[in-house]
Amino acid sequence: MSASPHGKTVPSRRGNREVMYVQLPTDEQLVLKVIPMPRDCNVNGDIFGGWVMAQVDLAGAVTAYPFAEGRMATVAVNEFVFKQPVRVGDVLSFFGKLVRIGRTSITVKIEVYAERIGAQGKYIKVTEASLTYVAIDEQGNPREVPKVS
Ligand SMILES: CC(C)(COP(=O)(O)OP(=O)(O)OC[C@H]1O[C@@H](n2cnc3c(N)ncnc32)[C@H](O)[C@@H]1OP(=O)(O)O)[C@@H](O)C(=O)NCCC(=O)NCCS
Repeated sequence: MSASPHGKTVPSRRGNREVMYVQLPTDEQLVLKVIPMPRDCNVNGDIFGGWVMAQVDLAGAVTAYPFAEGRMATVAVNEFVFKQPVRVGDVLSFFGKLVRIGRTSITVKIEVYAERIGAQGKYIKVTEASLTYVAIDEQGNPREVPKVS
């Protein structure tokens, strides 16, 4: 089956597993787009989870940097869910949103949507994650996050 409208389930290429096309979030910012290459595959032929995590960390940093106003470091991956496999050639869109600003930390949510080859404009949610970054000074010690006015 092909060319289904948003919100309908369609069989995936792998067995009987079905995927659902979804709408992109309207309350999150597009912070990164990237296409995984064959060198990024795992032994199943899907994209290696560690590669996806690295991209999510970058997308999270892009989301958090405007609030840190300087150096920061990833202190925690609070949650990470691989909802659907990522494939070679998918166009991945990373959406980011601020969740919380603490004294020295910034927590963000990242959602990743894939457009499969031949299904451009139809989005499958493949990953979601929550990460916390800490604003650091030149010595690498935590520093206060500037107040948002
Ligand atoms: C980030 C780092 C500077 C924080 O130093 P620290 O002494 O642990 O700092 P603190 O205990 O004061 O915590 C700092 C902030 O991080 C938060 N934090 C610490 N551990 C956390 C955890 N496991 N989950 C969520 N938040 C956490 C604290 O709540 C605090 O936030 P707040 O000030 O907004 O309340 C230090 O842990 C570090 O350098 N880690 C390595 C960073 C790194 O290399 N990242 C890349 C890894 S691939």
